[in-house]
Amino acid sequence: MQLRNSITRWGVVSQVLHWAIVGFLLVMAVLGLSMTELPNGIDKIKTYALHKSLGITVLALILLRLLWRLVAGPAPAAPGPRWQRRLAATTHAALYVLLLAMPLSGWAFNSAANFALRWFGWVNLPRLLPADPGLKAVFHAAHEWLFWLLVGVVLLHAAAALKHHWLDRDDVLRRMLPWSQTHKEKT
Ligand code: HEM
Ligand code: HEM
Repeated sequence: MQLRNSITRWGVVSQVLHWAIVGFLLVMAVLGLSMTELPNGIDKIKTYALHKSLGITVLALILLRLLWRLVAGPAPAAPGPRWQRRLAATTHAALYVLLLAMPLSGWAFNSAANFALRWFGWVNLPRLLPADPGLKAVFHAAHEWLFWLLVGVVLLHAAAALKHHWLDRDDVLRRMLPWSQTHKEKT
């Protein structure tokens, strides 16, 4: 088991961060899409607070992921024609931008709506923007639309990973899975 990325696979740190962020995003999506329908009351307030605190945690994980990528570098480019490698690089860059934009738009919306932000009831976080109904509407819409854009890019990304695995039968998915041996490691 290797901490850093190598020429054959993503290291443990990159793998754990990748799959942890996927898991957190699923929970965030379920909370975000269901909480707005809850009847007003203490459960709704608690669910909103959980969504916001987890969202800030995801932001920290994403910053850690970007920092680690700078330190450890990426795994080597995946096999395949040049246009596919370019599409993969563009998709990955878009994913990083959307991953940052999602929690930041939520935080900006929360600030413009003049709501307090306490991370798990423990740390007070500053406002990103002054309270303003116009900005509130802009960032509310941005938070929702960025989410659906993220869903679209993630579907493309996951479809490409499965295509590599099942059709091309190469190591692209295996090298992101902790329990799976790549062809090079078997020989
Ligand atoms: C990775 C992070 C995040 C994801 C994937 C996410 C996702 C979502 C989704 C899908 C919705 C429902 C949108 C709708 O249908 O109106 C939502 C709503 C909301 N999010 Fe997030 N969110 C994230 C982070 C945050 C953060 C960090 C905050 C605040 C600090 C936040 C604050 C809110 C609020 C206040 C709403 C409710 C909007 C309303 O009442 O209509 N979100 N989020
Ligand atoms: C919320 C969902 C997801 C997000 C946000 C996400 C994000 C990312 C990002 C940003 C990278 C780029 C790594 C880099 O170059 O630094 C990556 C790589 C990767 N992801 Fe995902 N991912 C998600 C879901 C999935 C799923 C469902 C699969 C598998 C079906 C998958 C398989 C992979 C693989 C195999 C790589 C490595 C690609 C390579 O080695 O070139 N991801 N992911």
